[in-house]
Amino acid sequence: MAPVGMAAIDALATTEPWFATGILDAASRVIESGKPRILAVDNDPVIVEVVKHALSQESFEVQCETSGRSALDALARDSYDCVLCDLRLGALSGLDVLREIRKNDQSTSVVLFSGLRDQQVAVEAMKEGADDFVSKPFRLDQLRERVETAIARRANFYSLLESERRLTEAVRSANEACLARERDLHALAIRSIRSLVLSLEAKDQYTKDHSIKVALASVRIAKALGMNDDQVRLIRLAGLLHDVGKIGVREAVLHKAGKLTEEEQEHMRQHPLIGVRILIPLAQRFPDLVAAVRHEHERWDGLGYPDGLRGEQIPLASRIIAVADCHDAITSNRPYRAAQGTDVSMREISAGSGTQFDPRVVNAYLSIATEL
Ligand SMILES: [Fe+2]
Ligand SMILES: [Fe+2]
Repeated sequence: MAPVGMAAIDALATTEPWFATGILDAASRVIESGKPRILAVDNDPVIVEVVKHALSQESFEVQCETSGRSALDALARDSYDCVLCDLRLGALSGLDVLREIRKNDQSTSVVLFSGLRDQQVAVEAMKEGADDFVSKPFRLDQLRERVETAIARRANFYSLLESERRLTEAVRSANEACLARERDLHALAIRSIRSLVLSLEAKDQYTKDHSIKVALASVRIAKALGMNDDQVRLIRLAGLLHDVGKIGVREAVLHKAGKLTEEEQEHMRQHPLIGVRILIPLAQRFPDLVAAVRHEHERWDGLGYPDGLRGEQIPLASRIIAVADCHDAITSNRPYRAAQGTDVSMREISAGSGTQFDPRVVNAYLSIATEL
């Protein structure tokens, strides 16, 4: 049989654990002294001396203790490869010692022995984390073999725990890297959206102010509806971008002070679809954002455009933007009329509840309109 020191080292080496912290500790104890360290505990001093004498001749370094308390003190001061402990010790039993060890130490082998030939006690001890259970009286050569086996088995078990810990750590790091990449991509997408808004601002000052005011009003309505932070963030972006398609509307139409002709109206009504085409690169990452922009001119009664959706077929973000958009159109100065008060806006939006607008969104708007 290989010396137990080598057996323990071989067991450690089979699972590539040399650089794993816990395994390295266990292995270094063996390497430093050249002998595995045993703590033998029995309240009969004769038995521990016999065990010490027998095992010391078999490549073990053995320390003896005669009570559970002194054994725990010894374990607090020093580390051992194996604790060989009688079940019946007095105030603190062998099971108590085992439980204390296992609270924060999975690397030390624990072999319990007892004069009781009680299978139930043995099963109990193994459940609590003992590596072996030896009945008294035992032959010393058998005891030595059981101790060697327990140390090797524990080293294997611990190396598995370490491998699992390192695997969990590797998965956690990979997840973090993934999340960081996701955050970078998200930040890039947000920067793209900002540059779109800047392009819109460069073309039309009214649309710039309008987009910001619609975004703010939409956020207030969304919060009044109790939407969560993620949904509110989406509403803010959708509010900023809802008219981005106006980049593709002819300037003569966009800035016309008088009434639009039918052809001009039809051209203007294309802006949600132009917006969708502009936002296509963001569609995979922000599908709800693109949908919100597409449907911002739908009506609750189905008479809106571009798809004639009705009721809850219309994304909630679009229903909110529709109300915020109307509020801003009424309360802003236009080339053809001066700004009107919030009271007028509240009246007109209330009148459109259930036809143009979602009644629930209208109620939320009315609850915060005076703060806009
Ligand atoms: Fe619009
Ligand atoms: Fe608008």
